[in-house]
Amino acid sequence: MDGKRLEGRVAYVLGGGSDGPARPGEALPMGNGRAIALRLAAEGALVVVGDKDLGRAQATVDHLDGAGLAVEVDAADPESCVAAVRAAVEFGDRLDVVVCNVGVSGREPVKVQSLDDWELASDVNVRSHWLTAQAALVPMLEQGRGCFAFVGSTAGVFSSRRSLSYEATKAAQLAVMRHVAVRYADRGIRSNAVVLGNIDSALVRREFGDGNGDARAAVVPMRREGRPEEAAGAVAFLVSDDAGYVTGQSLLVDGGVSAAWPIPPIVSQ
Ligand SMILES: NC(=O)c1ccc[n+]([C@@H]2O[C@H](COP(=O)([O-])OP(=O)(O)OC[C@H]3O[C@@H](n4cnc5c(N)ncnc54)[C@H](O)[C@@H]3O)[C@@H](O)[C@H]2O)c1
Repeated sequence: MDGKRLEGRVAYVLGGGSDGPARPGEALPMGNGRAIALRLAAEGALVVVGDKDLGRAQATVDHLDGAGLAVEVDAADPESCVAAVRAAVEFGDRLDVVVCNVGVSGREPVKVQSLDDWELASDVNVRSHWLTAQAALVPMLEQGRGCFAFVGSTAGVFSSRRSLSYEATKAAQLAVMRHVAVRYADRGIRSNAVVLGNIDSALVRREFGDGNGDARAAVVPMRREGRPEEAAGAVAFLVSDDAGYVTGQSLLVDGGVSAAWPIPPIVSQ
């Protein structure tokens, strides 16, 4: 890629594997975390990929432009979250960019919301993110520079009526993002989120099946789902100096869903 914006930076992506199914014609199943890792490397960063499945993390690293490191991390385990950040710093000798991508989506609306599902969502979608940020802030504050990107969901802003734990934890994740941004804005730290709508990713294919993409696309003003590479492009912008005066923000990457008034489709004129 020309115009590499992240040359010389070290990036850590939490949840940088992807466990399929792949899109048609796709050799490597593409999820948001994997696409983000590939994009940051293409922009010149040295990338560390953390995932609970080391094989998936390694598959991402094997496809990076340049060197990288795969690290096994369980986001539901606080010590593991901190150890993974330390491994990233040891590998890169600094840490400039952290992308908190890992997220699990439950399927329990309020009447059947279980404690187990609530706790897992809370541990993985929120606690792992603030613990990762807390550990990463140590080298970043010493450097006087660092960027966080949190991978959020429109479910954290609007209700899809599907999963209470997912909606609540994705909302809390945005609070973590804003807290980090405001608390350390005067010390060279920026923190932002991409808030994703429907992305034609391994996660969505797993959750909703891969045969009903047209129905998902139909409710989007752009009449298509997004691609993980488009989520990755938004993250790359936010962690680059092009977004140097942007902090505490949620960038909606949703094909126009959040800008639309819910009326039946109108044929374009
Ligand atoms: N695809 C979409 O339409 C969409 C929409 C909105 C938001 N999102 C957000 O995107 C993010 C994930 O996207 P993705 O495509 O990379 O998903 P994915 O399901 O492919 O997950 C990426 C990786 O996370 C790993 N993982 C799961 N639990 C883990 C744990 N406890 N510890 C460490 N790693 C773990 C998985 O092994 C997987 O390799 C989430 O934050 C999700 O909320 C996605």
